[in-house]
Amino acid sequence: SEALDGTDLASRMAVRGAEVVKRLMEMGTIVTITQSIDADTAQLAVEEFGHKVRRVSEADVEIGLKGEDDTIDALLIRSPVVTVMGHVDHGKTSLLDAIRSSDVASGEAGGITQHIGAYQVETPKGARITFIDTPGHAAFTEMRARGASVTDIVVLVVAADDGVMPQTAEAINHARAAGVPILVAINKIDRPDADPNRVRQDLLQHEIVTEAMGGDVLAVEISATQKLNLDKLEEAILLQAELLELTANPDRAAEGVVIEAKRGTLRIGDIVVAGAQWGRVRAMYDDHGAATKAAGPAVPVEVLGLSGAPQAGDEVVVVENERRAREVSEFRHARTREKEVARGAPLNLEQLFSEI
Ligand code: GTP
Ligand code: MG
Repeated sequence: SEALDGTDLASRMAVRGAEVVKRLMEMGTIVTITQSIDADTAQLAVEEFGHKVRRVSEADVEIGLKGEDDTIDALLIRSPVVTVMGHVDHGKTSLLDAIRSSDVASGEAGGITQHIGAYQVETPKGARITFIDTPGHAAFTEMRARGASVTDIVVLVVAADDGVMPQTAEAINHARAAGVPILVAINKIDRPDADPNRVRQDLLQHEIVTEAMGGDVLAVEISATQKLNLDKLEEAILLQAELLELTANPDRAAEGVVIEAKRGTLRIGDIVVAGAQWGRVRAMYDDHGAATKAAGPAVPVEVLGLSGAPQAGDEVVVVENERRAREVSEFRHARTREKEVARGAPLNLEQLFSEI
């Protein structure tokens, strides 16, 4: 297909050509506005402007506004990615443990400890759901904010004996800010002091109007430890997922977020950049701790082979070759450094020398 130049990129992103040339220059690519740009560089530049890129072929880059995705015919239904949030001790991890123990697929791998805080479970009817656990402790605000932004649905766990608490309210705000639908799991209904209606009442003050209150937010009464109504919760999640019409193209190069791979298929041998780190995927382990060779859309995996540890929430992309990976990584390192300098962070000795 036709090679791209700065004018193409600028017009597709509705920015001035000079802006594109300047951004490319900052990335170490010196071009004039009419000079053709290779697809990888174009993709990076476009992502720097906060746009989504779809690669139609090796050489081709199409720019979509955020949220736009692959051509319709390449898309398959993908399983929803669900983040479980709520106040400390309201039972998020217990809920995931209970759901996981009912996982149809977990039989074979059996009892292997997972490390990634994310699981994909298969429901009795064969549908899959990917769950991400988050801590409720106040110190993890940022993790919850990221959690909300990388998922399709937030399951808000509220203990029926405790009601809406500070981190419940905070989770609601994160989900709203990220535009992610909320589904409520009213937990611990086995407790003698459980009062599910009070939870529904409390939620009204945060403009969460559950069905029983005449609204359209689904709320399911559960007990994680007694394994009550877990099937109903899964059904509610799948219902919500259906409304969202979640799709992905498993044939494209993988793109995801650390802790959560979302689109495309990641394979052993792929060269990935995760935040400012890069490497060749040497080994992958699924949520049962079993070695795996490929991870499709919405499948959580642990990846070995990176040059260093990325940050939770960092974006992961697959690139063509090691040279490109190094470039992207160096560029991102430099950008991080710039931000630190802008914030007035002190330099360490090594950075000081590399800066001179
Ligand atoms: P953080 O990760 O610290 O935010 O807590 P969490 O929300 O993951 O809560 P966790 O699952 O660790 O549960 C906290 C306590 O509540 C544990 O002692 C659980 O056994 C208990 N618990 C969780 N779910 C239920 C339930 O349905 N009924 C009863 N009775 N206890 C529950
Ligand atoms: Mg927990």
